Amino acid sequence: MTALELRLISERVPGRVGWDFSPMRVEEDQPPWRYEDVVRKYLTAGGRILDIGTGGGELFSTFEQEIGRGAGIDISRPRIEAAVANRRSGGHCNLEFLLMDAAWLAVKDSTFDAALAHHADFTCDEVLRVLRPGGVFVSQQMGERNTENIFQAFRWGSFGQFWRKQYRTRGGVFQTSADKASIFRSLGAEIIALSEYDVDQYLADLDSLVFFLKASPLPEAFEPEKHWRPVAELIDRYSTPRGIRTNAHRELLVARKP
Ligand SMILES: C[S@@+](CC[C@H](N)C(=O)[O-])C[C@H]1O[C@@H](n2cnc3c(N)ncnc32)[C@H](O)[C@@H]1O
Repeated sequence: MTALELRLISERVPGRVGWDFSPMRVEEDQPPWRYEDVVRKYLTAGGRILDIGTGGGELFSTFEQEIGRGAGIDISRPRIEAAVANRRSGGHCNLEFLLMDAAWLAVKDSTFDAALAHHADFTCDEVLRVLRPGGVFVSQQMGERNTENIFQAFRWGSFGQFWRKQYRTRGGVFQTSADKASIFRSLGAEIIALSEYDVDQYLADLDSLVFFLKASPLPEAFEPEKHWRPVAELIDRYSTPRGIRTNAHRELLVARKP
């Protein structure tokens, strides 16, 4: 792998639109749960569902046929615009997408039957405020050891260290799902599930690795000339018949409002 080869790959790999990672070919070893399956336990035909940090609404839209009405909120205008554009082309008439900060939801109390947050931060007291009594919140987050070998190859420390620093820089505090569960408990909510898994994940080809490096929030913007050595190290050390091996560390939290 040379810098020039990596530059050519980087130029042919598309950029991310909204929060669409479908250009990446990736597979995981069997995890103990799948987020979509957990969410489906709490969806009902007439249910009103909130998706916090919806990105371009890509994942949320997959539940569209199974709910009454849905609202996806995100703090990023381009992502909400992408979500609205996706909705128009797909005719998702029971979903709306709104520019909103998860810390200050512009929504009346007890509006939703269920709330979701997939790889997106949330504020426990706001979640409980907008859920109806008995309503359920499902969150899946990336864990602190996520994509560990990629962070090591790039000399970035760990995923957890990166995010802890991001929060500190903004004057906030990074909270794990276990931290959030303690907050929910202190607010009177019931914790239905609190789990984590860490399984092997395979990026099928170099294009998928480069898409990941270009499209993900990471400590540095990807530059082929600067980063060809860590990419070469990943190929040398972690290539397998299934692709380039890394890991997916995930946390699950399910809470019910009393
Ligand atoms: C990692 S993406 C996940 C998108 C989507 N849930 C998915 O999994 O495909 C996190 C999203 O959270 C949004 N976000 C970050 N901080 C937020 C906040 N305070 N309020 C609302 N959205 C926020 C980001 O703009 C981004 O679109």
